[in-house]
Amino acid sequence: MRCAANGFVGVILVGVAAGSLGTIPARAAPPAAKPAAPSGSADLKSEGPTQPAKVQDGQYTDKNGDPTYHIADDGKKVDWYTMSGYLRYNANCIVCHGPDGMGSTYAPSLVDALKGMDYAHFAGIIVGGKKDVNASQELVMPAFGDNRNVMCYMPDIYTYLRARADGALGRNRPPEHEPKPAAFEKAEDACMK
Ligand code: HEC
Repeated sequence: MRCAANGFVGVILVGVAAGSLGTIPARAAPPAAKPAAPSGSADLKSEGPTQPAKVQDGQYTDKNGDPTYHIADDGKKVDWYTMSGYLRYNANCIVCHGPDGMGSTYAPSLVDALKGMDYAHFAGIIVGGKKDVNASQELVMPAFGDNRNVMCYMPDIYTYLRARADGALGRNRPPEHEPKPAAFEKAEDACMK
């Protein structure tokens, strides 16, 4: 089950008060990601400032174990998670945050907001929502903790937005992507059930 059994949920629990996590069961944190062996590091080189330290089943992570993108071929070819995140962003977030994460009159630019935002912080906002009580207009970021269409794809959406925030990925649909990993498909099926 990808949403609940996903190792990253462990990271969320470290960063966010467990009480705000609602329906997501607690899970032990994964062992810290080790830097890739020298033999594998050539494959891990990515365009953009955030370099992956590890790849497992097509999912790239940085030295802190946070999900990150892998972009190659002059910016044209993205990893599967970035592609999936693009699709999920367009299904669930675009209505408020605008095309390509650029922001709208209602909701802030996520290209700006994701600069330096780690996965635990991001996940906390997505699970629990956010409300700006000081704004003259009441701004509400809905809580998606019960929405599998978002929860099952949280690392994907983070990965996509991180690539946008880093300036590694331009606007519009990525032209090419790595194949969908078999492990992704299995976890997706389990999570969406
Ligand atoms: C109904 C409109 C709406 C939808 C849909 C929505 N958001 Fe938001 N989001 C907002 C608003 C408004 C804010 C600003 C809230 C505030 O300032 O307190 C916000 C804030 C955020 C922030 C925090 C930004 C910051 O500067 O701290 C993140 C991250 C975020 N949204 C991500 C997402 C993602 C990812 C999705 C899709 C899964 C999404 N949002 C869907 C309205 C929305």
